Amino acid sequence: MKLTINGKTHDVDADPDMPLLWAIREHVGLTGTKYGCGIAQCGACTVHVDGAPMRSCSVPVGAVQGRKITTIEGLAAGGTLHKVQKAWVEHEVPQCGYCQSGMIMAAAALLKAKPKPTDADIDAAMTNICRCGTFQQVRAAIHSAAKA
Ligand code: FES
Ligand code: FES
Repeated sequence: MKLTINGKTHDVDADPDMPLLWAIREHVGLTGTKYGCGIAQCGACTVHVDGAPMRSCSVPVGAVQGRKITTIEGLAAGGTLHKVQKAWVEHEVPQCGYCQSGMIMAAAALLKAKPKPTDADIDAAMTNICRCGTFQQVRAAIHSAAKA
């Protein structure tokens, strides 16, 4: 099947029921998207499909053929960091970093849908789990990116 990831088309020879995350990491070789729980709970595997956040561990690859998939590697346009990535650097959000690509993708999708989110909007949208407890920095960085 053909997958469009970060603007490039990839031929992926895989079972249509295989999780999208496997196609991204193992077939296409983009390892910025992480495997955490595998059951759509933690958000480490968040990518955008047609601009909406999706937990790629729980989306069959056959369901996203012909759709526009963006991973963390494709978020920065033309070498310029996305405003969320800039805010993440400014607020020194990551600790171990494992959950952070999923966090950033979720935050970018939130700001696209709601350019000026409230704390309640952030809490509702950012259900990603961070074992290092970066939640306060995540919230501050999203508010900062919203002003950029
Ligand atoms: S690995 Fe997909 S939500 Fe946890
Ligand atoms: S930064 Fe370590 S799990 Fe989130």
